[in-house]
This record gives sequence, structure tokens and C-alpha cells, in this order.
Amino acid sequence: METIAGDPVSPYTLLLRSLALIPISHYLLVAFFVLVVFVYNLLEIHIVHDIFGGFGGDSVSLTFHSSSDLYREVVSKCHLLHGRYFATPWLSSPHLQTILLNVLVKIPSFSYKREIFRTSDGGTIALDWLMNSDVSETNLQVHGTNTDAVIPLVIVIPGLTSDSASPYIKEIAYNMAKHGWNVVVSNYRGLGGVPLTSECFHHAGRSDDLGEVVNHLHSKQPETLLYAVGTSMGANILVKYLGEQGVNVPLAGAASISNPWDLLIGDRFFNRAFMQRFYNRVLGNSLKSTAKLHQEVYARLSDWEGIEKSRSIRDFSNHSSRIAGNFEAVDEFYRWASSARLVSKVSVPLLCVNSIDDPVCSHEAIPWDECRRNKNIVLATTQHGGHIAFFEGMPGKSLWWIRVVEEYLSHLHATSSTSKH
Ligand SMILES: *[C@@H]1O[C@H](CO)[C@@H](O)[C@H](O)[C@H]1NC(C)=O
Repeated sequence: METIAGDPVSPYTLLLRSLALIPISHYLLVAFFVLVVFVYNLLEIHIVHDIFGGFGGDSVSLTFHSSSDLYREVVSKCHLLHGRYFATPWLSSPHLQTILLNVLVKIPSFSYKREIFRTSDGGTIALDWLMNSDVSETNLQVHGTNTDAVIPLVIVIPGLTSDSASPYIKEIAYNMAKHGWNVVVSNYRGLGGVPLTSECFHHAGRSDDLGEVVNHLHSKQPETLLYAVGTSMGANILVKYLGEQGVNVPLAGAASISNPWDLLIGDRFFNRAFMQRFYNRVLGNSLKSTAKLHQEVYARLSDWEGIEKSRSIRDFSNHSSRIAGNFEAVDEFYRWASSARLVSKVSVPLLCVNSIDDPVCSHEAIPWDECRRNKNIVLATTQHGGHIAFFEGMPGKSLWWIRVVEEYLSHLHATSSTSKH
């Protein structure tokens, strides 16, 4: 045994010796704990919050003008928007919700009927139809062909690189059709398996294509009440279109789900934290793969070499849409393509749903004040839910936003169709 007085031992040696006496299993336990805390923070897991909340979820926050008719006549009747959203307990993380969206959603089995629509510049858009009569067991075609005119039609606009075959799009199409709606998914140019047939490709700001599709559907069925639902970038394009066209929109109402709102704020957000950089890379690659399908057209209209070297959404936009759209700077393109600047011009009933913890489209971009000032808009926000996910229930199969859209559109349609007569 050492005597401290006689032979002085360095305090560090003593410390090391005592540390060596602690069993290795204790170190492993501490390492495990540190790892858990790290993963908990990285994935923004909120299970502890959920447990303390008694697994009751969080109430939905509604933002609207104090004399909003949309709120008084429609949204006030929506139970889901006046209830709570409670995330599936084993998906209590915006990242798990978002990453597993297309993995966990059970894909309903049905097939669309495809209509090929030609735009005024010779472009090709695939419109994929699912009718209420295709999915309802009890075929209520008592009035013969006339029923199609009274059945409302909802246009579904997918996210950035999604199309009608994406699981979450099939899920909403099927659910709306089941609930008495006819549905048409409006794919983007070059997506859904169609070629690019004009000197033009799709990008985040191309709301004019949606305008052409809406006008086409309206002239085809002038008696039918038309509605639209956009998700993610599809929501941005939808709201941009609504703002640009103002009172000239032949839609009876719309819903915007997980809208990025402001692409400039979104771009800054994508470069901030580790997980956002990950999404940036994944989405950038996915944009590159869609561009590769139409390499010749992209090469003619933009900088193909630059596209191939892109490592982020920003790089991709800089070398494709910026050049094709004749913008000097990519930020200029982002400002122009953002729907947030057009919120005040929206003239049809619009429900907007965003999650505060959306890890792809930052809540910092939500135009709270503009939504509150426009009597046609109700903004619903939840604490949790991730990006276009909002999984609910123990099996993690059901998406809350799809039920919200169905409830909202059904109440809106009941109001619109009575006011028409
Ligand atoms: C955009 O691309 C051009 C070349 O095409 C390059 O000079 C510029 O630095 C890029 N800008 C950004 C913001 O990446």
C-alpha cells in the first residue's frame, strides 16, 4: 500500500487506478445511456413528452380571421381540427414519421384510369383518375350517368418528386374515393412515366400547368364542383396558383398539407443541422434521378454537367430551374416560386395544415400573419406529425391529415352545394 506522505503518487495515477476498479459493465451502461440521449435528441423523439401528457396528444392550433366565414360555416364543424393529434407512440419522432412515410402506409390496391392531357405548349401531363364507383361496394349508380355531375371531384397534387403511384398519394386518392368523391391525381410533366414532349420541364414554381389542368377539368365537367389538395411542394404550387389567379379560380375549395411556403427559408433550413443536410442530400439525389429520365431536354435547357455534380437541392435548382427560368440568382428563383408571398391573394376557401416539428419544411416559413388576415384561410398547426405523415393509432397505418382533409372537404362541399341552389 502506498503511503501518501512517504512516496508521493500522482493524483492522476490514483484516479486511473480507481477508475480501473469500476466494472466494465458500468461503463457500457453509461455509454448506452449517452447513446440513447444522443439518438433521442438527434431524432427529436418526444415519447417522454407524450408519457407526461398521458398519451393524449396535443390540441390542434387554429389561426384564422376573427370574422372568417370559412371558420364559422365549415371548420367549426370539423371535429378532428377541434380535437387533438396524438402521434403513434413508436413513431414519436418527426424523422421516423417522415422517413417511414412511404414504408409504413399500407398501399391500397386499385388501378387508376389514365387520361393524357396536352398543355398549350405541347407538354404532356398524366391525369390519373379514380372514381367513387371504382371503389364503392354498394354501387349507387341509380341515376345513371347523371350522378357523375353531382359527385364532387378532388384534384390531388403530389409532392416534389412524387407521382400518383406514391403510397401516400394512393392512400389519399383511395380514401377520398371511398368517401364518395371522384379523384384525379395531376402528375407533373415528366413524372408518372410520361415523356417530356416540349422544351420545358417541371419545377417548384410551375403553377401554370396546374392552372391548365384545372381549366381543362372545369370545361370538361362545368357542373361538377372542383376541389384541390396539394401536399408538400404540391401545396406550394397549389397556393401559388390560387394567389396568382385570385377570383378567377374555378375551384370550390382547397387544402394545403405540409406546404414549404418559402423556398428561401427552406433552403437555409436545409443547411442547418445534420438531419436536414441528410434530407437535402436525399431530395437532391431524387431530383437528379427524375432529371436523368429526361436528360436530353434538361441538357438543352440547362447545365447538365452542373446537375450531375449537384449535391443539394440548391445546387440542382441553380443548374436547372434557375437557368431554364432565366433567373440571375437561385435565391431570386426561390423568392419567385414561393407561395407565401401570394397568401393574401387567395380567394377560395383554403385549409392549411402544417406540423411545427416538420423536419423538411421548416415552421419558420409559415406565414402566420398573412393567413390570419385572409378571411378565406384557416391555418391548422400541430406540435408533432413530421412531414406529410401525421401517423396515428397503435398499428401506425392511419394518416391523420387524410382524415382531416376528408372531413374538411365534406363539410365544405355540403356548404358549397347548398349555397349553389
Ligand atoms: C450557380 O451556378 C453558377 C454557374 O452556373 C455559379 O457560378 C454560381 O456560383 C452558382 N451559385 C450558387 C449559389 O451555387
